[in-house]
Amino acid sequence: MAFDIEEYQSRAGRVQDDDIDYEEFVRRPLSADALRSLRYMADIESHTVCYLRDLLVTPSHIDPAVTTFLTMWVFEEHWHGEVLAKVLERHGVATGAAHITAVRQRLGWRDRVAPIGQALLANIVGNDFVAVHMTWGAINEWSAHAGYARLAELEDHPALTTLLTRIMRQESRHAAFYASQARDRLAASGRARTLTRFALKRFWEPVGAGVAPRSETRHMLHFLLGDAQGRRTIDQIDDRIHRLPGLGGLSLVRRAAVGYGLS
Ligand SMILES: [Fe+2]
Ligand SMILES: [Fe+2]
Repeated sequence: MAFDIEEYQSRAGRVQDDDIDYEEFVRRPLSADALRSLRYMADIESHTVCYLRDLLVTPSHIDPAVTTFLTMWVFEEHWHGEVLAKVLERHGVATGAAHITAVRQRLGWRDRVAPIGQALLANIVGNDFVAVHMTWGAINEWSAHAGYARLAELEDHPALTTLLTRIMRQESRHAAFYASQARDRLAASGRARTLTRFALKRFWEPVGAGVAPRSETRHMLHFLLGDAQGRRTIDQIDDRIHRLPGLGGLSLVRRAAVGYGLS
């Protein structure tokens, strides 16, 4: 079924946390591994506006359905970062403007120059670039959803589970938009299929790997996906990717996981 963008824009909003008692995290703190993963996730959620900066200078900005979605998406992701920061704060972990600035400054000059090269390439490619963007988005939203599901399951902390379940509901909507766009665009163009397959194979990395230190991506992957259920999760995401037109047999997530030392 096609994604209903009108319905999405009328319902998009801040993830609800008014009834969450954050003092629960003082009474029963999260484990060190969960906290480290949550730090990673909060940093990536707060970085969404920077990803948007890079994408609005590509042909994706021409399609009004895409820009309507991105407007709502960046707002919802911003609030994911904010509520996760509240959990981190209760554990005495640094959050807020100074921390977010430090994450962005750590990326250095490459972060300011690389998007210009990407924008040039994307505009040379033209409309088929949007298929790459939409497919990339679907994979990252599937990954984010799976990551939160695993964290909730492993930590089994009622307040955290409530919060993550609400975030996951929004990640599912994001995934549905990207996947429906990706499916249509890949089905419509052989050039889009070739380009997308090439770009994913050559450049895709686990969500946040371009922003977080390698040690942190590695820790998160091992903590969330290092057991038997983690292996099944990897296969489920790969299966979804394989069902998109032209992307059969890519084994993208499996290969990335192996690159970080997972078997
Ligand atoms: Fe999110
Ligand atoms: Fe999302």
